[in-house]
Amino acid sequence: MMKPQFGLIGLGTMGAALALNIAEKGFPLAVWNRTASVTADFHAGAGALADRITTTKTLEEMVGAMAEPRAIILMVPAGQVVDDQLQALAPLLGADDLVIDAGNANFHDTNRRAQAGLPFRFMGIGVSGGEEGARHGPAIMAGGAGEDWQRMAPVLQAIAARAEDGTPCADHMGPEGAGHFVKAVHNGIEYADMQMIAETYGVMRDGMGMAADAVGQVFRKWNDGILRSYLIEISGEVALAADPVKGGPLLDMIVDSAGQKGTGRWTAVEAQHLSAPIPVIEAAVMARNVSARREERAKGEAAYGAAPVALDGQVTLEDLEQALTAGKILCYAQGFAMMTAAGAEFGWALDMPAIARVWRAGCIIRSAMLNDMAKALSEDPARNLILAPYFADHLRRCVPALRRVVAAGAMNGLALPALGAGLAWFDMMRTARGTANMIQGQRDYFGLHGFKRLDGVDRPHGPWAKG
Ligand code: 6PG
Repeated sequence: MMKPQFGLIGLGTMGAALALNIAEKGFPLAVWNRTASVTADFHAGAGALADRITTTKTLEEMVGAMAEPRAIILMVPAGQVVDDQLQALAPLLGADDLVIDAGNANFHDTNRRAQAGLPFRFMGIGVSGGEEGARHGPAIMAGGAGEDWQRMAPVLQAIAARAEDGTPCADHMGPEGAGHFVKAVHNGIEYADMQMIAETYGVMRDGMGMAADAVGQVFRKWNDGILRSYLIEISGEVALAADPVKGGPLLDMIVDSAGQKGTGRWTAVEAQHLSAPIPVIEAAVMARNVSARREERAKGEAAYGAAPVALDGQVTLEDLEQALTAGKILCYAQGFAMMTAAGAEFGWALDMPAIARVWRAGCIIRSAMLNDMAKALSEDPARNLILAPYFADHLRRCVPALRRVVAAGAMNGLALPALGAGLAWFDMMRTARGTANMIQGQRDYFGLHGFKRLDGVDRPHGPWAKG
């Protein structure tokens, strides 16, 4: 067998799946994992693909088993492990070899690594789609030098998911950490989509008294409409699943504390640095944090009593579907606007329609609506999505329902933080004369910070200014 040009380090769930995907698409590769038994088990389970995979017992052996110039994909935990691995590879690789970090790295780390003067070429790529995606077609958001993308494009596009029109969901986002940045925004939106779905579940469960399987049927129905998406589909499956231990709905047995590895939080933190408003994503991160405070919440309920929720026809299932539709449009509008701000700040030519196209298949937030977003962003990439005629029509139709749902939640003690945050942002964005004139007056009063006048008269301070 000819020496493979591709290699992969880290045969955990995602790494093993990606390695099989690469081999299946016809690219022989060498693999290495820190624990040798993991490599052996992986190879034994590779079936017919085993012939295309060279297993190695040390990093040196792996590098030696590969043809130059090498391209090695790292699928190891984000953070220090990546730095350690890069350090270990440094004495073994040449200047034309390429190392690709395909984990969920913080894009600041990827920027740092790209600028660190590593003795080999380096890329950071965001890979989405969980194990199933990695095995059969993820969405890939690549960051790095254009020439390195050109070199890797044949393999990355071959292993990626394909949109309905056949386009591979793998593209070059920009230099250095651009790919990992877009992946972080993807994850922020993932958090927000999940949270808004959970909020509609809460309205059905607590406000409408619906059992889990009835909720599951609603999600199934929604998945045939405008909300068609992977997350709605799996939410239906989750709600319909039976508890294998005790029978009854499994959902009712799952503890209501959400975990997180932190990528959604990175997006919220970065949005603050960029002064980019993404309140739906921020609310979703907040809601996960509140969910984790289970004991405190129980004390809160003991102190104040459970919320007196019984919506009694105040909102319908159609309202909920429309509210979620509006919330989703608002959330994506915020996410794309944040990426526009980041592009300007970091000097990256982030291509908004291309990002929407990459997200159409393979990734966790894949949805039918992303096709329409790609179209709307192609018309005018810098325009906020809420001003695109197609989405403006949907918002005019759906916002009244969002208003009913959020109002009913507020009046009945049902927490709807993400949907509510979307609505508040929308109302600010449709108000030409806001209320920050008061803030400016206050700032001038206590700090002489100055303000601008509507009539253009040059009098930057109020009468409260002394002297
Ligand atoms: C993906 C996902 C994935 C993420 C998990 C867990 O695109 O495949 O975003 O990368 O790591 O969904 O994320 P949390 O643990 O933060 O929920």
